[in-house]
Amino acid sequence: MSNASVFQGLEAHQRERLQQLQQELDSLVGLQSVKRVIREVQAFALIQKYRQTLQLTCEPMVLHTIFIGNPGTGKTTVARLFSQMLREMGILQKGHTVEVERADLVAEYIGQTAQKTREVIKQAQGGLLFVDEAYSLARGGERDFGKEAIDTLVKAMEDQRDRFVVILAGYPEPMNRFLEANPGLRSRFPITIEFPDYTDIELYKIALGMLEKREYSLTARAQQELIRQIRRLRQGDPATFGNARAVRNLVEQVIRRQAVRLVGKRELTKGELTVIYPVDFPGNDA
Ligand SMILES: Nc1ncnc2c1ncn2[C@@H]1O[C@H](COP(=O)(O)OP(=O)(O)O)[C@@H](O)[C@H]1O
Ligand SMILES: [Mg+2]
Repeated sequence: MSNASVFQGLEAHQRERLQQLQQELDSLVGLQSVKRVIREVQAFALIQKYRQTLQLTCEPMVLHTIFIGNPGTGKTTVARLFSQMLREMGILQKGHTVEVERADLVAEYIGQTAQKTREVIKQAQGGLLFVDEAYSLARGGERDFGKEAIDTLVKAMEDQRDRFVVILAGYPEPMNRFLEANPGLRSRFPITIEFPDYTDIELYKIALGMLEKREYSLTARAQQELIRQIRRLRQGDPATFGNARAVRNLVEQVIRRQAVRLVGKRELTKGELTVIYPVDFPGNDA
């Protein structure tokens, strides 16, 4: 069955926009499990809203979520889409995303952190508060002001249950340790989404997609070189390997190197401006 009926509570423009956002999410390479959970959450939210219109009992919609994954695995990208989806479903008023990290929440002097955190929460009203590397809020133990930030955040989540959604994001190991040390926190985040590292093939597809979007194309040998360089990138420390971000940096480097190769020429065809050769990759000097 199509899910058209579920969308009935929504206006036509919301429905259309929601489908656009869904397509954008689908167009991300890989991330199958992430896409599945987002679909689940979306279905849940739509059904609860639909039940409401028929005066059926509704589950409270607690959508605070934990994103676990290494750098460059798509956490920020998915969070931004998720926030906009929630707006189109009428769950969030604005659907913007406020991205913060420890330094945006924690102040230097005693008594100022709560205020600083509350200010950020205010900015996130009607949208999504994305706390990157959230585990660093527990860095200094009991006496650290990070704890004050956590307490302030938890209190705001209790008081204003449905006016903003919080996502705590971070790398797997420290994040799991952080959540174990703060059981009260964990229970307030009913959804956990894991962002796996991309495979080499996925990274290759991501790189091709980035190049295509920028109107560049690779020769067959340049494609080989791209695969080789992706493998090489991964050989370092897996905790610092940047996944799609490392690939984006590589793509940007390649584009700059192609520009250097071309800039001395008098006249350039469209073909010359778009094609990438192996020599355009770092380490391959002509
Ligand atoms: N699955 C994907 N498909 C295409 N591009 C991606 C994908 N995942 C990440 N990217 C790109 O990689 C870069 C880093 O992603 P980001 O969401 O910032 O990762 P994180 O927040 O986990 O560090 C961004 O430019 C993003 O557009
Ligand atoms: Mg990020």
